Amino acid sequence: MTQEQFQDALNARVSTIEKVLVSALPKNITMQKTIADAMEYSLMAGGKRLRPMLMLEAYRLFGGSDEAEIEPFMAAIEMIHTYSLVHDDLPAMDNDEYRRGRKTTHIVYGEDMGILAGDALLNYAYETAVEGALKLKDPANGLKALQILSRKAGVYGMVGGQVVDVELTGKPISEEQLDFIYRYKTSALLEASLMAGAALAGAAEEEIAQIECVGRLVGLAFQIQDDILDLTSTAEELGKPIGSDLRNEKTTYVSLHGMREAEEAVEEYSKEAVEILENLSEENEFLDQLIVSLIHRKK
Ligand code: IPE
Ligand code: IPE
Ligand code: MG
Ligand code: MG
Ligand code: MG
Repeated sequence: MTQEQFQDALNARVSTIEKVLVSALPKNITMQKTIADAMEYSLMAGGKRLRPMLMLEAYRLFGGSDEAEIEPFMAAIEMIHTYSLVHDDLPAMDNDEYRRGRKTTHIVYGEDMGILAGDALLNYAYETAVEGALKLKDPANGLKALQILSRKAGVYGMVGGQVVDVELTGKPISEEQLDFIYRYKTSALLEASLMAGAALAGAAEEEIAQIECVGRLVGLAFQIQDDILDLTSTAEELGKPIGSDLRNEKTTYVSLHGMREAEEAVEEYSKEAVEILENLSEENEFLDQLIVSLIHRKK
């Protein structure tokens, strides 16, 4: 695939995902309209849509063919991710005022609604995924995907990572602690995306474990690049404030190892991930190219 073909394929996928998200949003709203507005505000603000995209590509990689079956799960992972961002930006956490090129949800709707919008997105994610699972030809695959999503979003996943991230803010941290934070707060949802996509395609346990490794590596690279961009990008390009980590006295891979080593690590982890994919018996060229494209992402 040429760079141009890849970019077109990427744009096409983003617009498909946007449609899936719009149609997944809650419909029968009466007095609780504010929460539906806040959910839509945060969810439909743009964003790279990386997690649903990874889920779809993993589904395709392992031979999944009925893409309507996976759509509720794609919507669910993006809702979980969006809730994590809404809460991450709250004053009690990173206290950031911009996200995805807009004022953050709590700035527009108030802190109370920011908290509730996150809660609502999280619950609605599972509501959506369970509905989807009930309609599957093989509901056992859906149950497996739900197990993966719920575990990787929680104590043994994103929430666990955020806890340690918050707790160690402003403190010197070890390599091991940094690795834990990144694996949990960031890799976990990327792992979940790939693993759930694989599970829904009916992949074997061993294949799900292999794709989990890919997610871990892509996630580590992704978070290190996020830390790099926090220092080198602009708020306009990133759609969120730069310098947030410095302001919050976060120890990051960059502050621990320096910029050069950080850039090398992004490349290293990403290449390792692609190598695992290349050694599988199945192939998905777009997925390989997507992971490589993230090495030099600007937002
Ligand atoms: C931001 O995720 C949070 C991190 C894990 C670094 P993304 O960079 O994927 O955010 P969106 O979805 O594109 O806004
Ligand atoms: C993101 O880490 C982790 C989440 C689970 C939300 P950051 O705090 O670095 O993410 P950004 O930079 O605010 O997107
Ligand atoms: Mg944070
Ligand atoms: Mg943050
Ligand atoms: Mg960041």
